[in-house]
Amino acid sequence: MEKLVSNWYNVEPVPENYIFPPEQRPGNVHVPIGEGIPVIDLSEAEKGGRTLTIQKILKAAQDFGFFQVINHGVSENLMNETASVLREFFEMPSEAKQQVYTEEFSKSCILFTSSISYAQEKIHLWRDFLKHPCHPLHKWQHFWPQTPTRYQEIVGACSVEVKKLASRILGLIGEGLGLKSEYFEEELSGRMIMTGLHYPPCPEPSLTLGTSEHVDADVITILLQDEVKGLQILNEDEDKWIGVDPIPHAFVVNIGALLQVISNNKLKSAKHRVVTNKSRFRTSVAFFVTALEDSVIEPAHVDQVHAPAMYKPFTAKDFVAKYLESNADTEATLGYFRA
Ligand code: OGA
Ligand code: NI
Repeated sequence: MEKLVSNWYNVEPVPENYIFPPEQRPGNVHVPIGEGIPVIDLSEAEKGGRTLTIQKILKAAQDFGFFQVINHGVSENLMNETASVLREFFEMPSEAKQQVYTEEFSKSCILFTSSISYAQEKIHLWRDFLKHPCHPLHKWQHFWPQTPTRYQEIVGACSVEVKKLASRILGLIGEGLGLKSEYFEEELSGRMIMTGLHYPPCPEPSLTLGTSEHVDADVITILLQDEVKGLQILNEDEDKWIGVDPIPHAFVVNIGALLQVISNNKLKSAKHRVVTNKSRFRTSVAFFVTALEDSVIEPAHVDQVHAPAMYKPFTAKDFVAKYLESNADTEATLGYFRA
């Protein structure tokens, strides 16, 4: 429990095991915000604009690997409630958090700090996190925190809505890739894991990281962020970071490594990170939609003549094993399965 950043963040100077080496530290955390990351109005897909919406999503997924969705059908009230119940969870007194805190990472609900590589990593991340599966709901909901008392109900309702939204977006992406719109249903999106992330204020944001540079190891991620800036995407062509604008009631959507494989590198799984700030807590809720363990991941229906498959087939379970073996290095993991 003493490890949780939220229990001791008000210190100066920052402890040495939180200071990243110069080439990894963010330096200037104030980067341009938005910079063309598309904001897509999903309601247009139902108003005769389906083809155009698909084109916008595909272009965003190719160019940035990230986009935001508005008018997505999840109620603003439910989004507000979800954000506040997560914030309340992290703000509970330590005796209450003690019930959920664990260093046994095989448990179905984990409250911990930095990452599950804490014991091996040299430098820790300036964040605490709460992690649990959330689909199918009936299988997991009873493992979740019992306080705040409305946690299970609110996060349960939000999980159901986010799963539906993910299916809708994957349906549009499937169509855009020339696949059947049900291509991603069941097997390829049968699991969903939620991570609530809590980033306390940090006295030295230029030296530390909330979340280090990474690519998500799932199919697709749907993120609910609060009004505090911090999420940044790497523009690899120009080697510069772009901030994701915290648009109220939008979801941030990003392409995971498995979807990059399925699309045979047509869609990009982009590197991103989270920086800290001096004065405000930041809370985000990430829903990682991913494939069932035994499902086979491979480039979908590729034309062998014009576009040979870039990856060998592998199971989602193999991917996770290699991912853990490589210390959560998604690029190295993808390299292993390259054709
Ligand atoms: C992640 C992630 C972003 C955020 O957990 O994979 O990128 O805003 N989180 O916390
Ligand atoms: Ni991520």
